[in-house]
Amino acid sequence: MPELIPVLDKEAIACKVADVARQISNDYQNSHLVLIGVLKGAFIFMADLIREIEVECLNIDFVRVASYGDHSQSSGCIRLIKDIETDISGKDVLIVEDILDSGLTMAYLRDHLAGFSPRSLKICVMLDKPHKRRVAVQAEYVCHTVTENGFLVGYGLDYAESYRNLPAVYELKLG
Ligand code: IMP
Ligand code: MG
Repeated sequence: MPELIPVLDKEAIACKVADVARQISNDYQNSHLVLIGVLKGAFIFMADLIREIEVECLNIDFVRVASYGDHSQSSGCIRLIKDIETDISGKDVLIVEDILDSGLTMAYLRDHLAGFSPRSLKICVMLDKPHKRRVAVQAEYVCHTVTENGFLVGYGLDYAESYRNLPAVYELKLG
């Protein structure tokens, strides 16, 4: 039986999301901000984050990517399944992702979105595993940095499409 070890509870998540939202509100006060969520994993984080952000003008959009590989590791072969529908040229864009691991997905998305000529392009992630990086990508906004190697689920994060509904973040130990 898989075992779930608590990593972040609901209260800790809410605190960290509110903290990052405050930084974003501060940094983008008078701008036209477009948040681009990476489906499916970022949908819960995105929903919580935008409700805590206060800026003059905020729009949202989503992309969806798939990376071929097994359930717990990115293959590096990334495919765009759904592109943005918003014109982001000249706008301040923030990519919103559940977790930054090898960085391969984010490097691909960053290059892809840069091609639409946004005024600025930054990265916001719920979780960051800096020790797992295989390409140079850094997030400007991070809710929580993970130093352990475990595979995380819950709060949008899945293992083989399950566990996304868990309200907290857990490390999944496969028995
Ligand atoms: P990267 O391309 O290796 O940075 O992987 C990014 C994607 O892999 C994330 O958007 C997640 O979908 C998935 N991923 C990486 N690590 C984890 C994890 O610990 N739990 C769940 N999904 C993960
Ligand atoms: Mg994901």
